[in-house]
Amino acid sequence: MKHSRLNVVGCGRLGQAISTLFITAGIVDEIHVCNRSQASGAQTVAAIGVGVAHASMGEMPPSTLWLISCGDEAIEEVAERVASEAACLPDAIVFHCSGLLDSTVLESVRRAGARVASVHPVRSFADREMAVRDFRGTFCGIEGDLAAQEVLTEIFTTIGGRVFPLSTEGKILCHAGHVFASNYVVSLLECAHRLYRAAGIPEELSWCLMEPLVRSAVDNVVRLGPARALTGPIARGEAEIVKRQAMAVSQESPVSGELYRMLGCVAVEVATANGLSPERGDEILRGLRGCGDL
Ligand SMILES: NC(=O)c1ccc[n+]([C@@H]2O[C@H](COP(=O)([O-])OP(=O)(O)OC[C@H]3O[C@@H](n4cnc5c(N)ncnc54)[C@H](OP(=O)(O)O)[C@@H]3O)[C@@H](O)[C@H]2O)c1
Repeated sequence: MKHSRLNVVGCGRLGQAISTLFITAGIVDEIHVCNRSQASGAQTVAAIGVGVAHASMGEMPPSTLWLISCGDEAIEEVAERVASEAACLPDAIVFHCSGLLDSTVLESVRRAGARVASVHPVRSFADREMAVRDFRGTFCGIEGDLAAQEVLTEIFTTIGGRVFPLSTEGKILCHAGHVFASNYVVSLLECAHRLYRAAGIPEELSWCLMEPLVRSAVDNVVRLGPARALTGPIARGEAEIVKRQAMAVSQESPVSGELYRMLGCVAVEVATANGLSPERGDEILRGLRGCGDL
């Protein structure tokens, strides 16, 4: 598994953390970095504590491992430049760590002879030191060429990752799942906060009200599954109450009203899986549809 060096093109928050993890675990002995400017590369190398900054990809030494960790929008174009400028790609593995993009954006380096993959560590790299310290146990979704997957699975397992396979076609939906589980939870809590405010609940109290509700909802979904975790008026089949509440929320805020009704539809499906009768479920849906466009 020993590779002499890792070449990193676009070494920012994630690139620095992965470089540190690879060096610390003895996966590679050398790190070579190429950012947009050599000055940025030099700062990066100083932050990692080891490595060499290069002014161009053509200057980077041959390597069997390449990480392209610039922002997602630049990955395809950077891969094209790696394909045309880098030395000795035929034996190399080239990978990126985007959660959203799959390995097909690396087609140009694949055509140049490299094996390609994407490995998405499902965590934040906002704080490099914290990401390195807490990396053990991080889930890493992998897809791409089988030969590249084999090597990268071993490497990411060695640095503490919990690697799981993804299909190339399914990757974008898997990432959308992360968006719902993370970013949109923030959006939902903001909606809850606005409704508390409209109800005259003081700011500080609103967060205190939310915290135990959110924590227990998450604990219960993980422990019992969504069907048994769902409580409230939809789980009890209270169609009239749900309709009244949907109207009140829509009057307060059209956006929150729309969300209430859409998430209510999902809740009806979940409640039906836990014994709510289809007839009562339909009645709730009619009530939800009756107070807005669904
Ligand atoms: N950050 C996270 O929490 C996280 C989590 C999971 C996955 N990821 C993935 O990791 C990748 C990198 O994200 P990041 O947050 O680490 O980005 P970042 O901190 O913004 O770093 C991107 C780096 O790429 C360099 N760069 C940009 N365009 C370039 C180009 N054309 N050629 C060479 N270097 C270039 C930038 O440096 P200069 O501008 O100074 O050159 C910077 O050092 C993305 O694919 C992202 O989806 C990130």
